[in-house]
Amino acid sequence: AAPRSADRPLIGRKALVTAGPTHEPIDPVRFIANRSSGKQGYAIAAALHDMGADVTLVSGPTTLPTPAGVQRIDVETAREMLAACRRALPVDIAVCVAAVGDWRPTAPSTVKLKKTPVTPRALELIENPDILAEISRPGPERPQLVVGFAAETDAHLADAVHKRQRKGCDWLVANDVSPGADIFGSAENQVSLVSEAGVDPWPRMPKNAVAARLATLIARHLVGDG
Ligand code: CTP
Ligand code: CA
Repeated sequence: AAPRSADRPLIGRKALVTAGPTHEPIDPVRFIANRSSGKQGYAIAAALHDMGADVTLVSGPTTLPTPAGVQRIDVETAREMLAACRRALPVDIAVCVAAVGDWRPTAPSTVKLKKTPVTPRALELIENPDILAEISRPGPERPQLVVGFAAETDAHLADAVHKRQRKGCDWLVANDVSPGADIFGSAENQVSLVSEAGVDPWPRMPKNAVAARLATLIARHLVGDG
């Protein structure tokens, strides 16, 4: 491999990025999904690769092209995403950007459900595993740096400080997804970086710029400025 250099400080480092939504099947033609284009996660995978990292991108269903040089693993459900992440470990850096479905239908039907006179019916749900919390758990395989994302409507932005502690990740990137903020599918994002040091609000900027800034901070954290 090429030697580490100022502009490729992450050469020799492995990174795992989750991105996109998950699809949780109700039956063969229907699913529950989260709103996510995958753009921010893909941009982070690309930015880490640009800095020299060996990047695995575990992606839910998106319409985006794979960033050059990045190894992409496609999954649909939260449980598939967790299994793919476990296979990618150990890594030095994990960035969980995926909008993982918090619940899945308890017993997806293997045949298409039909309208009947008794519909609407209730859907029984069960909680999905928490991928970020599992990756953050202390242990010999824990990445050196674990970063989570939290899409919150403004009423809950203050909860991000709590969420970082609850998840056990090192940094949490909180973004305001209130309807007026126009974030979903947009090329821009407005985030605050929550760390042990406190809350650092960043100006609104393109998702690529958020990715580059985050990757720079990650590199600085791992290998210092030199
Ligand atoms: N996350 C995850 N696995 C889950 C749920 C969330 O890995 N089953 C990750 C997301 O990728 C994100 C972070 O956890 O990095 C925060 O997700 P969020 O939905 O904000 O957190 P939750 O703990 O699910 O809380 P909430 O009730 O606010 O949805
Ligand atoms: Ca959630």
